[in-house]
Amino acid sequence: MRVLCIGDVCSTAGTDYAIKIVPKLKKEYSCNAVIINGENSAIGNGTTVETAEALFSAGADIITGGNHSLRHRNFHTFLDENPFAIRPHNIPCDYGSGYALLDMGKRSLAVINLLGQVYLEGYKAENPFKVADELIERARLDGANAVIVDFHAEATSEKRALGFYLDGKVSAVFGTHTHIQTSDIQILNNGTGYITDIGMTGPKDSVLGVKKEIIIARLKDNDMHKFEFADTPCIISGCVFEIDDNTGKTCACQSFCV
Ligand SMILES: [Fe+2]
Ligand SMILES: [Fe+2]
Repeated sequence: MRVLCIGDVCSTAGTDYAIKIVPKLKKEYSCNAVIINGENSAIGNGTTVETAEALFSAGADIITGGNHSLRHRNFHTFLDENPFAIRPHNIPCDYGSGYALLDMGKRSLAVINLLGQVYLEGYKAENPFKVADELIERARLDGANAVIVDFHAEATSEKRALGFYLDGKVSAVFGTHTHIQTSDIQILNNGTGYITDIGMTGPKDSVLGVKKEIIIARLKDNDMHKFEFADTPCIISGCVFEIDDNTGKTCACQSFCV
């Protein structure tokens, strides 16, 4: 199977761009499934029912989240009602889960969403290494042909470490959250596809999606103006993993930022 993974969609501009471009990318890369990280798709971060539905209409089979997943209350019950909208499994939360199983007929794909602990201390995440082991066992019991992990984390070191820890246990691990794509897509020694961060989908001339002038004023002059998403042409960032259905290993992978 070939799985398209799309990085953090930012605000209305990023969501609209995803609706326009994801179907083309799915066709261009001949993908069977699409995972989109939607944690910034709402105005001012987070995900709402409306932005989740927009991302499903863009072609997402599974929407993953991150540290902003629970920001909007109307999304909480949606997490309970829709098994294909997930949030990091290892955060304190009564709604939904961080595991989804996509039945694709002859084969199935399990998706796991986890939050890092390093530099994200305020979110009180449980140990992602241990929670990953629990969810991989669940995927094994479900008979999943492939398992992909969206590791939403700040520190490159934590992402690399989890990637190596899961090498040979899952099909692929991709990082999200920093909104900057790293150039290290690779297949690890035991067959797990890996990239530290797949980047973002949203305004190109921005600082992580936010108007650059606001961030410059914040950092230079301590001017704490409210964040506003930038209004410039968009990019879409992500990667494709080609996974052998029989072995569950990645046989090819590539990233893009267009
Ligand atoms: Fe994000
Ligand atoms: Fe995030």
